[in-house]
Amino acid sequence: MKFYRVEGGRALKGSIEVSGSKNAVLPCLAAALLTGETVVLKNVPMIRDVDVMVEILKALGAKLSISKEEHKITVKAEELHTFEIPVALSRLLRASTLFMGSMLARAGRVRLYGYGGCPIGKRPIDFHLKAFKSLGAVVEESTEYIEIKAERLKGSKIELSFPSVGATENALMAATLADGETEILNIAIEPEVLDLASMLRKMGARVEIDARKRVAKVWGIEALSGAEHSVIPDRIEAGTYMVSALVTDGELELRNVEPMHLENVIGVLREMGAEVEVVSGKSIRVVSEPTYLKPANIVTEPYPGFPTDLQPQFTVLLAVKSSGTSTIRETIYEERFHHVNELRKMGAEVFVEGRTITIHGPRRLAGSVVEARDLRGGAALLLAGLAAEGATIVRNAEHVERGYENMVGKLNKVGARIEITEE
Ligand code: UD1
Repeated sequence: MKFYRVEGGRALKGSIEVSGSKNAVLPCLAAALLTGETVVLKNVPMIRDVDVMVEILKALGAKLSISKEEHKITVKAEELHTFEIPVALSRLLRASTLFMGSMLARAGRVRLYGYGGCPIGKRPIDFHLKAFKSLGAVVEESTEYIEIKAERLKGSKIELSFPSVGATENALMAATLADGETEILNIAIEPEVLDLASMLRKMGARVEIDARKRVAKVWGIEALSGAEHSVIPDRIEAGTYMVSALVTDGELELRNVEPMHLENVIGVLREMGAEVEVVSGKSIRVVSEPTYLKPANIVTEPYPGFPTDLQPQFTVLLAVKSSGTSTIRETIYEERFHHVNELRKMGAEVFVEGRTITIHGPRRLAGSVVEARDLRGGAALLLAGLAAEGATIVRNAEHVERGYENMVGKLNKVGARIEITEE
């Protein structure tokens, strides 16, 4: 098990380079299987979830070359050896479900023995399976695996009952090689979904998205070609570091970001009275004053609403930096609250009732031993440790490494004192 040991109370000052988006690169890696030609991905975050996707691609028969320094991965899936996603790998992350769409389209068959992901809610895949069935696939569900088959997918009309990110991505990938036209209604319009659509277009796919109406149209073609694609910046990583500046009374410039993707988050921060400046369209500067911020009432929602993936980090922000009572209503996941108990151990006044977190701030947190149970909750505990008085130990730091590239190195460079230890 890995631990973070954080010396709290140090203001963070300087600039941080934000990596490519985790949630964008994972579907892009799955989409690389849609062609036998070479796909080059750039601005790839070098994180544990990417390592697992790479291992799955290799197991399926793809040849890869990876340059960690250049943040570049080249995939050539000329021949596929198997239609089974290895169980030991698929159980490590939720994004293994994204191979369903690309394998079905490319090989006509895929078998998945379970899938992983953070323990933040039930997270079924019924919307995905319904979409595949609409496209003419046969789904066989047993206690051990899910197998999806189709000699040839047929374009159709798919209506998602909720704008699910993964189901939209799977439906888009599957439809690119189907016969005829597919219309997908009530799609997710997260920037990561649009980034996948943009990569698919570079591969020759005919995809049109009307984000305002939440409709995608895909005209299936015979084959896709290779492409080169640079992954969008990680808005959640950027949001996490924005909070790190505010809770430590610091001043950070975040480089390589897409401020438009953070419009809602920046809006919330400005309403709270935080100083957030967009510099030259690609950087964000956050300056924290020693005074407290106003409380906020936040509701997590599908994009363009406030992202659930920043809910735990904002719980910390509201607990330590805003004066008064705040609430966050979590509408996406029914169990994304583990960090709340851990924050209470540190002296935060936070409570959950139903799906609403109530936060009474500001409280000075005290260093404690806390446990990460999921990726974003773990990052939030690290932020709490940065703000606390004394030393905090965050156990199970592996969760954080699944989705943040070199988080400790980046934070230490701007003045944090965090050590990683292993047991
Ligand atoms: C993606 C992101 C994750 C983010 C989430 C919501 C990746 C790799 N992960 O996850 O970081 O928190 O979007 O922004 O991109 N649901 C169903 N049935 C389904 C599919 C989803 O009930 O078939 C439910 C889920 O349980 C959840 C909600 O819909 O409550 C949203 O899930 P979804 O948008 O699909 O999230 P993911 O694609 O899993």
